[in-house]
Amino acid sequence: MITEKQDCPDNIGKCGLLVGGSGLIGGGILHYFKTHVGGGFELLGPNSKQLSLRAPEDIRHHIRRHRPEFIINCAIAALDSNPLLAYQINYLGALHLARAALEQGIPYIHFSSAAVLPPGENLTEQDRLELTAELPNYPKSKLLAELALAEMHRKHGLDYTSIRLGVVYGAHDHKIQGFHRMMFAIADQIMPMLFTNRRAAHSYTNAAKIPPFVHHILNHREEFGGKTWHFVDPEAVLLSKLILTIKAYLQAKRPWKLFLPYPVAHFGTGIIHFLIRLMGRIGIDARMPAELLFMEQFYQTQTLSCSHLQESSFVDPKPEATVFTELPHLLEYYLTRWEALNLITSFNKEFFDCGRESEDFVRDPARLLERLER
Ligand SMILES: NC(=O)c1ccc[n+]([C@@H]2O[C@H](COP(=O)([O-])OP(=O)(O)OC[C@H]3O[C@@H](n4cnc5c(N)ncnc54)[C@H](OP(=O)(O)O)[C@@H]3O)[C@@H](O)[C@H]2O)c1
Repeated sequence: MITEKQDCPDNIGKCGLLVGGSGLIGGGILHYFKTHVGGGFELLGPNSKQLSLRAPEDIRHHIRRHRPEFIINCAIAALDSNPLLAYQINYLGALHLARAALEQGIPYIHFSSAAVLPPGENLTEQDRLELTAELPNYPKSKLLAELALAEMHRKHGLDYTSIRLGVVYGAHDHKIQGFHRMMFAIADQIMPMLFTNRRAAHSYTNAAKIPPFVHHILNHREEFGGKTWHFVDPEAVLLSKLILTIKAYLQAKRPWKLFLPYPVAHFGTGIIHFLIRLMGRIGIDARMPAELLFMEQFYQTQTLSCSHLQESSFVDPKPEATVFTELPHLLEYYLTRWEALNLITSFNKEFFDCGRESEDFVRDPARLLERLER
């Protein structure tokens, strides 16, 4: 959702520029600032055609025209993008925005990812992968951006905050990525077995808590500036438990409770990769599902420490919420949406009452008109 406003009004204390407002995280922040934050803040959310991070002149034009007082970057290239897009959007785009913030002397809020971290437990903000040429495009570009921002802070005093997210869960992920892709695979019954092991656990981030955090850090620059913060739920989540809980909610038959060993999963992924290349040779356009690029992570534990965040002045607005408590709502939201878009057919439709609302429209349209007369 993009605000229609084009100029920052003079009477508003803080007017910001948000890039990536049509995405899961950016959309939530735009919505929050429009509906929850009265008076104090106003956000401009140009779409990627109005402001593309691949076009530095777009950024200069927006900054000159609207003179924002802070910048939030929620833009990201698709996970399976080629190196050029990952480089231009995730790294160079972040750099252009940070330079603009530096020139204007305004804060720059950046979103980073657990993808910059190695496997391990209770990883801190100081942990990072080693920067090597062999890293896949997404972690390499996110890591480069983090390192460059830290350098710009050290050398030039850039006022920035980098927020590292875990696996994000929340409504309105219209591209069906990450955790929501996994939910989709279970709902669509295309996950026959557990593509994980008994021990693999990860950190999750509640998308609904991100906007209040951004609001808080904008109001507390001293405390939150010049640093990276882990923003995740305190409890790590066992991937197998989460998959089986989703299966139970959906009353689905699959995935069977069989753990597919990693070497077999890896071999299977290799076969898919080979078939896709073969199809390309005979003119059929096919792509590797982006999530299969992260297959290894399904088998490795990676949990982020949030003790730094817990010791900060930020108060969790809903400490009891976890991915498990939010599942019923998320499933209801996504199943309704996916069913409406004809994306899934095979789950128990009665379970969440999906489709009932349009039953008369489908079976007995005259009833709709009868009801109108009452
Ligand atoms: N979702 C997660 O699970 C997760 C986990 C860890 C970290 N993060 C981080 O959180 C941030 C936001 O992720 P998300 O999940 O909200 O992503 P998303 O839903 O895929 O949204 C990406 C946004 O980037 C915009 N964009 C793409 N190319 C652009 C360009 N050239 N110029 C300007 N905007 C462009 C897209 O606009 P169009 O739709 O117009 O292309 C869209 O608004 C990213 O930094 C990501 O690394 C996300």
